[in-house]
Amino acid sequence: MTEQLRISVLHGPNLNLLGQREPQIYGALTLEEINHLLREEAEIQDVELTILQSNQEGVLIDAIHQTAGIQQGILINAGAYTHTSLAIADALKAVKVPTVEVHLSNIYQREAFRHHSYIAPIAIGQISGFGHQSYCLGLRALVNYLRASPRT
Ligand code: DQA
Repeated sequence: MTEQLRISVLHGPNLNLLGQREPQIYGALTLEEINHLLREEAEIQDVELTILQSNQEGVLIDAIHQTAGIQQGILINAGAYTHTSLAIADALKAVKVPTVEVHLSNIYQREAFRHHSYIAPIAIGQISGFGHQSYCLGLRALVNYLRASPRT
């Protein structure tokens, strides 16, 4: 029997406010509801999720460090840190854990400062613009990628 895949789901700043935060952009679901959908998808995919939301860059960086040797993949919506945080990008680069970047909104249809992602060059890929579905699509893409790659 193959070992169950373990995936770390990281939600960045202000995503704890989903449901009430600019619902016309980010949708009506709360973070808890999104996490519930992710857990349902994880059960279908037979993967174990560890989910964390933080408004603090350092907490997200520590969580990325802690994936090394424990989790096989990272699903991340770094919120505004996507566009500003070299430190989060460096942490992802350091641990070399395959990462999928997701965004609820289509960041390329929005303000110019949201068009650049420090995470994108390090990620396997990015899913942006499908609302809460971006998370489940991202999880599926990550699992497919990991199942197709030999374990390190
Ligand atoms: C976001 C897009 C970011 O630009 C923004 O700062 C967020 C959410 C998204 O999921 O669409 O906080 O990552």
